[in-house]
Amino acid sequence: MSRSPLALEEFDTLLSQRHSCRAFRSDPVPRPNINAILQTAQKIPSWCNAQPWKVTITSGTQTEDLRQALMEAAMAGGHDPDIAFPERYEGEYQARRRTCGWALYEAVGIEKGDRAASARQMMENFNLFGAPHCAVLSAPKSLGSYGAMDCGGFVAAFTLAAQAAGVASIPQAALASYAPLLHELLEIPLDRNILCGISFGFSDTTHPANSFRTERASLEEFVEWRD
Ligand SMILES: Cc1cc2nc3c(=O)[nH]c(=O)nc-3n(C[C@H](O)[C@H](O)[C@H](O)COP(=O)(O)O)c2cc1C
Repeated sequence: MSRSPLALEEFDTLLSQRHSCRAFRSDPVPRPNINAILQTAQKIPSWCNAQPWKVTITSGTQTEDLRQALMEAAMAGGHDPDIAFPERYEGEYQARRRTCGWALYEAVGIEKGDRAASARQMMENFNLFGAPHCAVLSAPKSLGSYGAMDCGGFVAAFTLAAQAAGVASIPQAALASYAPLLHELLEIPLDRNILCGISFGFSDTTHPANSFRTERASLEEFVEWRD
């Protein structure tokens, strides 16, 4: 077996360092750095090498316009994603969802039951957590679930490539709640499903929202061997 030039330990370090950033500095990422991240991320595999992802990336006033429009839409309420959100999380999935939610609330000092503070933190999604950029990811409707699956790989590769380039990021399904707004504002054709946004920029490392880390299940919980 030929050894990869990047040892598994180094790859693991990169994955361990990446986390979802929920407070960004406002300074933009230079375009050559964004291009380098994209060129690395697009090396992931896709079925038939279709590479079905498209990303619409905002900077400067376009990010401000997006932020403003999303915050207004979120304050008005409503929910209209191109792909239905899960109706509920059950069992271990619900437990993990709660654990990471409470870890965030604890980090930013939100008490259990403080609905106003929870709502304010939720709104941070639509403020793009202060990020200078947002990449809105879409897949062709014609490729169905497998096209979306390929794009999931792109999300992972983008966030890891960003981490390797010193750029923080967070995938955000929350933004897909306002798919009609995103189609119109960003001129994303209606024959594509909007999957999520990825807000990115440089981390505000001093912000409490960035002070916690999530855990992962043991192998026993997700692997079944058939020897
Ligand atoms: C497809 C996808 C959508 C996500 N959507 C949101 C979101 O809308 N808001 C949010 O705060 N985090 C969102 N996240 C971040 C997850 O909560 C986070 O990845 C998970 O808790 C694991 O934490 P880590 O990324 O810090 O390792 C999303 C992650 C993925 C992969």
